[in-house]
Amino acid sequence: MDVLELQLPTLKHKTAAEKFKSEFFKNMEYVINGSALFDRMEYEQWLIHNKNNRYESTVNPGWVTATTFFAVRKSDSKIVGMIDIRHNLGNEFLAKYGGHIGYSVCPSERRKGYATEILRMGIEYAKSLNIKKLMIACFSDNIPSIKTIVKNGGVLTETKIYTDDQQVNIPDSKGKLVNIYWIDL
Ligand SMILES: CC(C)(COP(=O)(O)OP(=O)(O)OC[C@H]1O[C@@H](n2cnc3c(N)ncnc32)[C@H](O)[C@@H]1OP(=O)(O)O)[C@@H](O)C(=O)NCCC(=O)NCCS
Repeated sequence: MDVLELQLPTLKHKTAAEKFKSEFFKNMEYVINGSALFDRMEYEQWLIHNKNNRYESTVNPGWVTATTFFAVRKSDSKIVGMIDIRHNLGNEFLAKYGGHIGYSVCPSERRKGYATEILRMGIEYAKSLNIKKLMIACFSDNIPSIKTIVKNGGVLTETKIYTDDQQVNIPDSKGKLVNIYWIDL
């Protein structure tokens, strides 16, 4: 498999990031998991929003501190995925459904083992933050994500109905089953 690197978003990623986003939209995927709202913002605006969320002193109201990375393929600098690592679960939605980590791989780069590698690297980063136990959630019909989590040591502890009581508005999600996994770090 090609070597991937987790990189903090900067202005130099703009073109690659926009290509990454447009691939999802062309595939009619309008929510990019682990993008911390890059799917809804222009790049420069999102860069500021995202950097602010990285630090306790600047975190946006209602958000927890988090680090978002691009997963960049070293051979051609293509952004193949994104991962968002929340530093704690200090928000009702994250504690109930969202968990510590969200991620995605762009449609044309799926089934190459990238998500498994991206999550592995994300877990290493979480360790460096001194997180001891990591929660990851996914819908129980998301077989690729379930496999990705289990291959990284995720243990299923609960399956529950998604009620959207925090009005997060994930499309077609109300009433679906959510699997909750934990990984001891
Ligand atoms: C979930 C997602 C990140 C998986 O990315 P990926 O790079 O294709 O995953 P990997 O190549 O590492 O594959 C992981 C496992 O899932 C399997 N898999 C991948 N796509 C699959 C599919 N469509 N059907 C069945 N299994 C699949 C792989 O074969 C692999 O299992 P294996 O090692 O037993 O063969 C990607 O599909 C995606 O971005 N989906 C949309 C966003 C999302 O669902 N994010 C997760 C939210 S919790």
